[in-house]
Formats: sequence, structure tokens, C-alpha cells
Amino acid sequence: MTDVAARHRIEICLGSSCFAKGAGRLAEVASAWAERHQAAIELVGHRCRERCADGPRVVLDGVERRVKDERELAGLLASLGGP
Ligand code: FES
Repeated sequence: MTDVAARHRIEICLGSSCFAKGAGRLAEVASAWAERHQAAIELVGHRCRERCADGPRVVLDGVERRVKDERELAGLLASLGGP
């Protein structure tokens, strides 16, 4: 298990469109990652940001982007310092 020193904030859109595109699975991946790494991480859901056509929408440390699937999110999380 690797500690992630910095505190990170992950916001995942849980609006209906993003949820239908897999945002719920992204939230599960982020939650599991935080547990595995005992990460200082804040995981929050947010409402629709009206970018539904380009979802699921994720804000990682203030940077909003589309994260198309669990694999892409895992890569982003790994870049925070975990294995
Ligand atoms: S439902 Fe996520 S941006 Fe609209």
C-alpha cells in the first residue's frame, strides 16, 4: 500500500446523463483507489454542469475533463502518486 502525500479532490458528475455513461462506476473506482492507498482524497459527486454530451465529467484537483471509462480514471489516479 502506498500513501499519497498530497490531498486531492475528485468531483464526479452524478447527473443522469453522466451516470448513464458510467459515472457511478467511476465513483466506485475512485473510492476503491482511495481506500487502497489510504489517500488523503476528497471524493464528491456534483450535479449536472450542462456538458452532458461530453461526459462523464470529472473534476480532478480543479481541472474538469471527460473521463470515458474506468481505465482512463485509473490512469489519472495513478498519476497522483499511487502505483
Ligand atoms: S449530467 Fe453530467 S454534465 Fe450533465
